[in-house]
Amino acid sequence: MIHLEGLAKTFGRFTAVDDVSLDVPAGEIHGFLGPNGAGKTTTIRMIAGLLQPTRGRVTIDGHDLAREPEAAKGALGFIPDRPFLYEKLTAAEFLRFHGGLYGLEGQGVETRARELLELFELTGWRDELVESFSHGMKQRLVMCAAFLHRPRAVVVDEPMVGLDPRGARLIKEIFRLQRQKGVAILMSTHTLEVAQEMCDRISIILGGRIIARGTVEELRELAGHDDAQLTPVFLKLTGGTGLQEIEI
Ligand SMILES: Nc1ncnc2c1ncn2[C@@H]1O[C@H](COP(=O)(O)OP(=O)(O)OP(=O)(O)O)[C@@H](O)[C@H]1O
Ligand SMILES: [Mg+2]
Repeated sequence: MIHLEGLAKTFGRFTAVDDVSLDVPAGEIHGFLGPNGAGKTTTIRMIAGLLQPTRGRVTIDGHDLAREPEAAKGALGFIPDRPFLYEKLTAAEFLRFHGGLYGLEGQGVETRARELLELFELTGWRDELVESFSHGMKQRLVMCAAFLHRPRAVVVDEPMVGLDPRGARLIKEIFRLQRQKGVAILMSTHTLEVAQEMCDRISIILGGRIIARGTVEELRELAGHDDAQLTPVFLKLTGGTGLQEIEI
């Protein structure tokens, strides 16, 4: 569903993303795990069509992003790390505006927006201005917008940052529900706990390159063999406790 082939991005002489290939099939939550500066956001911005790759290819639901940008973007929901919203719109107005960008209008989109506001526990805030929303509420509203057009694939950058435990639990439940419906989700995070709890498979990125990929058990096995490249990454991601210490 999300298919990356030899994706690379250089800024001047600096290579931020280097030859990343990845397949996230329908119904999978795939964790994109790596320390600060590893290249997660840069990769995600290329998938969302916000950044032009230096090399390589992005395909969403069979549509090449470079050749069929509208079809590819129409199949994708994007949740950025920093929510971008219009402060002077209400939640309902923002969703209506966002739906318009995807060619959605009329009663259908109104009903869908109501459903999503309910799901993300924002119904009471429907007619309030976005400027009065807390960080967690803004993040949930951005997620409503990302799911509005029923995307087949979703990329999400650091969804749990700044959410309280209840907000985080809600987001996890909704992502699992979407997985059940066959949506492919690629989720970046720099915490191993989040990846372990939510993801079917994990790709570990370091210095712009994928250095390991697999289920938690497979990665655990790799780390158990004291992989020279993996161990320092795990130590960094777990604040020094290593992979074996963490219970799922
Ligand atoms: N526009 C840019 N110009 C130059 N360098 C950039 C640019 N965008 C990103 N980089 C560099 O690319 C590298 C990867 O950055 P990126 O934001 O993708 O990391 P990340 O894995 O998302 O990190 P974090 O966990 O901190 O969000 C960093 O070294 C960053 O400084
Ligand atoms: Mg980032």
